[in-house]
Amino acid sequence: MAALIILIVAVIVPIYFTVIKKNNKSTGAAAPAHTTGSGGGGNPGNSSNPNNPHTLITGGDGSLVTTSDGSTFTYVNKFGGFWYDDPKDPFNDNAQPNSWTPPLNTTWDWSKDKVYGVNLGGWFVIEPFITPYLFEKYVNQSINVVDEWTLSQAMAADTAGGGLQQLEDHYNTFITEQDIAEIAGAGLNWIRVPIPFWAIDKWDGEPFLDKVCWKYILRLFGWARKYGLRVNLDLHTIPGSQNGYNHSGKSGQIDFMNGVMGMANAQRTLDYIRIITEFISQPQYAHVVPMFGIINEVLFTTIGKDQITSFYLQVHEMIRGITGIGEGHGPYISIHEGFQGVASFAGFLPNSDRIALDVHPYFAFGGGSGSDPISSYSTMACGWGPDMNTSQTAFGVTAAGEFSNGFNDCGLYLTGVGNSHTYTGDCSKWQDASTWDQSTKDDLKTFAMASMDALQNWFFWTWKVGNSSTTNSVQSPLWSYKLGLENGWMPTDPRAALGTCQGLGAGGGTPFNGQYESWQTGGAGAGSIAAASTAQFPWPPTSIAGAGDPATLPTYTPTGTVSTLPPPTVTAPATAAAINGWFDAQDTALAYTTVAGCKYPDAWNALDVAVPPVCTGTGAKRAALPEPAITSLPMARAAVKRT
Ligand SMILES: *[C@@H]1O[C@H](CO)[C@@H](O)[C@H](O)[C@H]1NC(C)=O
Ligand SMILES: *[C@@H]1O[C@H](CO)[C@@H](O)[C@H](O)[C@H]1NC(C)=O
Ligand SMILES: *[C@@H]1O[C@H](CO)[C@@H](O)[C@H](O)[C@H]1NC(C)=O
Ligand SMILES: *[C@@H]1O[C@H](CO)[C@@H](O)[C@H](O)[C@H]1NC(C)=O
Ligand SMILES: *[C@@H]1O[C@H](CO)[C@@H](O)[C@H](O)[C@H]1NC(C)=O
Repeated sequence: MAALIILIVAVIVPIYFTVIKKNNKSTGAAAPAHTTGSGGGGNPGNSSNPNNPHTLITGGDGSLVTTSDGSTFTYVNKFGGFWYDDPKDPFNDNAQPNSWTPPLNTTWDWSKDKVYGVNLGGWFVIEPFITPYLFEKYVNQSINVVDEWTLSQAMAADTAGGGLQQLEDHYNTFITEQDIAEIAGAGLNWIRVPIPFWAIDKWDGEPFLDKVCWKYILRLFGWARKYGLRVNLDLHTIPGSQNGYNHSGKSGQIDFMNGVMGMANAQRTLDYIRIITEFISQPQYAHVVPMFGIINEVLFTTIGKDQITSFYLQVHEMIRGITGIGEGHGPYISIHEGFQGVASFAGFLPNSDRIALDVHPYFAFGGGSGSDPISSYSTMACGWGPDMNTSQTAFGVTAAGEFSNGFNDCGLYLTGVGNSHTYTGDCSKWQDASTWDQSTKDDLKTFAMASMDALQNWFFWTWKVGNSSTTNSVQSPLWSYKLGLENGWMPTDPRAALGTCQGLGAGGGTPFNGQYESWQTGGAGAGSIAAASTAQFPWPPTSIAGAGDPATLPTYTPTGTVSTLPPPTVTAPATAAAINGWFDAQDTALAYTTVAGCKYPDAWNALDVAVPPVCTGTGAKRAALPEPAITSLPMARAAVKRT
């Protein structure tokens, strides 16, 4: 009898604790076991019912994750982070990537929280060196593949090889849910995600795969929410190209705010920025996407700083007209420093509302030989510290949206398909990490940590680099955070970077821990840009580089249908009903489109064409220029409406 009782206890008790108790815990709507600052690596729940894996809605280190495609893996997070995924509550923002990062449902405090981020480069915006295999398939064929424009043409022509849909396979597989979980497990807390404008739509003549990636961007937002990562969403490609780089969609010309189609391309860009803002400002997404990089790496030297400032001011008025003013009202607006140096942005548009400054310090593209010892680059990286620090007060929130371990420009296609390297040494070593000895890895790790320490708020470029199909290995290993973690040249805990510069005797690493002015983080005074500033930067600007008076240039007319971004399909009750992809129901302006009956120059190739005669179109109505500059914010909402 005693033996039987012991047997019953031995069977029942474990069943109670493993099945019943855990299921109670995981099906309840209660908060997960981990809360801010709990540290440790306990396991808040685990499913022991293989037939019903979704009974597990949250878990920490060691928990079994069921991914959105039904596969499973074990979550590894030594930093007290936990994931949260309740199908009955799909917009729950409880997840936390680690103990020192506020959960998504809690405001990020720029004066003390630090961005430790990675980019998801080469995923939704294709770059030759990140996915060389996509290009290798088409080099030396009839179409010279150098950028996404030409790659799309080559793929579309190759119907037997999968056609343009090959890009969808890439969206579906290049970055997986497990990657996102690993990013959280690596002690990181933000991701910067480059996206193309053709996530929304494309116009006639553009070869891109339009709209398809949006579904995968939405899936990513879901993963970021699940693992507690914040997203800095970066509009990386702009109609006409904003920098002529291959990662702007088309390499070569800059037709955004430059040349005959410069104004028209800017109008179209305003719409894309508006449509993205409307989506990410919805309460279901505001915590997941608290920062919006409106244009990646715009080239000031071509376009002009005053002109681009006019554009940024117009965007600021448009975005804040949609979101309202002050912390909690829409994303930070991140602008790139245009290769001018952050110091030149001191005092930029005082009393704007939450504009952040983005800088991409690289040694690889400086044209230097790259042949000095790696340690000398660590010292140089520490030299970024004082500027970053000063900018926090002189400008406001400042972060490095990109940096890498590339102290030279070695790497397959790193300088573009078919371009040569400036590195004077032997590149083969830097294209094959399997040859690196421990001291090389140690030097690289110190370089990475010196960069992190100096930059303070940073996004490594990039999380993952794909293999070359000819060598079946990563040919630009200096650019892969994931590979560095796996092989010991990236820190497993990014907090370890603090103090690296001081340790090197290189100074420059004292973190900013002071106060921002209240307006710089959306507090008192935000959104009241002085009339003197708005007058100095009118929209449209007084002249467009290479083309003169914007009033003489071809423009579009705001009479088109807006391409809104569709929300995900959610089956959960209540929360699902409210979401339609458009935050501000009062924003009913139509989208820019061509004036019927007018013929426009090629918007991607209009630098050498003559300004066409004014065309009034079949509608006998000349394309209208956008409204004059808005002089005060309360007016902004009304002024951007074109009802
Ligand atoms: C979670 O459950 C699985 C399957 O029963 C088990 O193998 C694993 O050890 C459990 N993990 C933890 C941390 O309890
Ligand atoms: C936010 O999430 C934490 C868990 O990270 C939870 O404890 C807390 O209740 C949540 N707060 C709100 C307001 O939902
Ligand atoms: C392509 O992009 C790489 C990486 O940004 C850059 O180094 C190279 O100059 C670019 N090439 C062209 C032709 O845009
Ligand atoms: C990339 O190459 C490595 C070997 O260098 C190999 O282990 C890995 O499986 C490859 N990845 C893919 C996706 O082919
Ligand atoms: C950074 O700013 C802090 C004040 O927030 C200051 O104490 C520190 O010396 C600065 N460091 C550098 C390198 O400028």
